[in-house]
Parts: sequence; structure tokens; C-alpha cells
Amino acid sequence: MSFTLGSVQIDDPVFLAPMSGVTDLPFRRLVRKFGAGLVFSEMLASRPMVENARKSPKKRESFDFDDEFPIAVQIAGCEPDVVAEAARICADRGAHLIDLNFGCPVKKIVNNMGGSALMRDEDLSIRIIEAAVKAVSVPVSVKMRLGWDHDCMNAPRLAKMAEDVGVQMITVHGRTRNQLYSGTADWNAVRAVREAISIPLIVNGDICSPEDAVDALEKSGADGVMVGRGCYGKPWLVRQVMEHLKGAPPSSSPSRAELCDLILGHYDALLEYYGIEAGVKIARKHIGWYLSDFDGANIARREINKSTDPVQVKQFLRDFLD
Ligand SMILES: Cc1cc2nc3c(=O)[nH]c(=O)nc-3n(C[C@H](O)[C@H](O)[C@H](O)COP(=O)(O)O)c2cc1C
Repeated sequence: MSFTLGSVQIDDPVFLAPMSGVTDLPFRRLVRKFGAGLVFSEMLASRPMVENARKSPKKRESFDFDDEFPIAVQIAGCEPDVVAEAARICADRGAHLIDLNFGCPVKKIVNNMGGSALMRDEDLSIRIIEAAVKAVSVPVSVKMRLGWDHDCMNAPRLAKMAEDVGVQMITVHGRTRNQLYSGTADWNAVRAVREAISIPLIVNGDICSPEDAVDALEKSGADGVMVGRGCYGKPWLVRQVMEHLKGAPPSSSPSRAELCDLILGHYDALLEYYGIEAGVKIARKHIGWYLSDFDGANIARREINKSTDPVQVKQFLRDFLD
């Protein structure tokens, strides 16, 4: 199941999905530690990135991908020249792969012709993709949905057009835009993309266990899986998926003591990255996910969400998981 993307050898095609508000540097580092073959940044809007870079070329604050290998940086936008410039900026600053967002279903984005709205305009889509491919020497990939709605499932055609202009990998979330996150991802429908292209294909959507990954790969014929929400509070899931795909028994989830260490480490990393005030708030959702399977999780969450004192929060976590 291994393949190469430019200079990056992918031996373990179990990827962490791009998720705004979730896959920041501290979370990506954690998931990488568990062996994800590739991690994706949160989506970066191309126009503000380009405008900021023009105003202050040395400023790097909106880039959080300094020391990761390999890192895919995802760009959103609907103007070919701006997307191309954004791709160049990201590649210059260390991205090993540029991923283009053709899947975001959020109204604010699609109303501006971004994300999955692009799937309705194949001509514009290809101009954007071609501009990005020509702008950078690192590989370019595209992440899309099955189509806009069930009457327009054009992922196979768009994926083939993207391959023809030099895209090196396609990811398909097995839902249409109009489904948003409802229903279940249709891994069988992704097979039509497999049949249309010969570059690596990654299947995404509702992969929450090692068994789901096998099922998704069998049904879609894809070369790898991308896991998003399944990693909420379970960054070790990528390792278990990989072990299962290699035929090894999946390692067990962390013990309570190991989990406590992992959460505290993630907590410290968030506080260091965002500063204490913002970090304490941002950490709450992760802690909620980590504790969600435990008895008393709701009460614990309420206690933790009340506190703005990191020392208190950490002591509470130690006591809860003791
Ligand atoms: C909170 C959240 C943020 C997301 N942000 C992005 C994003 O920035 N770019 C993107 O391509 N997809 C984004 N997605 C979609 C995911 O990458 C993925 O396609 C989707 O969640 C289905 O996979 P899953 O069932 O494994 O979560 C986001 C999803 C969620 C839940």
C-alpha cells in the first residue's frame, strides 16, 4: 500500500484529515507520534494569506507548520492566480504537499464559490488546479466530495481532469455537499473515482475503527484512508488502523495512567502554543473528547469548563483518571 508523492514516501497511508479548529500544530504532532502517514493543516484561506504576505513578507504567524515531516498544507480559494500564489507561499515555507479544498460544505465558503461549490464549475476548478500545479514543485492534491448533490456526482470526472493537469493524489469524502454531515459516507460510491484515475486515491468519511478502514478500502478500492472525527480524543486510532491494515493485532488503547500523561502533555502543548488564556479554552473540547467514554464525563467536563486555572484543571484530570 505504499506510494510516493514527490519526495515523500508514504508507507503508511493512514492520514489525519484537515479539520479547522482541531488539526492545529499540537494535535497534528500528537497524531504524527502515533504514526500517521501524512497530516493535513487546517484549511488556510488563500486571499488573506496572499494579502498578508504582500503586506509583511517576513511575518509567519498564520503558518504553524514549521517542523513537521511530512506536512500537507490545505488551501481554499476560488481565484486561480491567488490560489497559485498561496500555494507558492506555503511551499516556500516548508509544505511538502499542497492540498486544495474542494469539499468544504460551509455556507460562508460555498457562497463565495469556495470549497465544494467549485465542484459545480469544472472549468474554474481545473483552472485553479492547473495554476496551483504550475506554481509549485511540491505535489498538489485535491480533496473533494462525491459531488454537489445526488443529481451531480461528478467526482470521477473532476478527479480525472485533475489527474490530467498534474495532480498527484485525490481524497474523496463519501458524501455530497448537500448531505453536509448527515447520513453515512458512501464508500462504494468512491469506487467510481478509483475507476476513473490511476493516481493514489484516499477514502474519507466515517472511518472510526480499524474495521471501518478495511471496509472503506475494500468498498472504494482506495490506496489509503483519511481519518477525521474518529481521532477526536483518540489520536492513537491511526496506529491501530495501521496495525490492522498490516495484519497485526491492533495495540490496545492507552491505560488510564497513560491517557492521563497523554492528555497532560497535549494540554501543556496547547497552552504553550496558544498562551494560557486561549489555550485553556481551546483545550476544553479536546479534554471533553478524551473523557467522553468515562463514567462521570459530563460532570468532569462541567468542572473543567468552569476553571481558568491550568494547575487546577490538571489536578482535576489527575484525580479523575487516578
Ligand atoms: C470540525 C471540522 C472541521 C473541518 N475542517 C475541514 C477543513 O479545514 N478542510 C477540509 O478539507 N475538510 C474539513 N473538514 C472535513 C474533514 O476533513 C472530513 O472530510 C470529514 O469530517 C469526514 O471525515 P470524518 O468522518 O473522518 O470526520 C472538517 C470537518 C470537521 C468535523
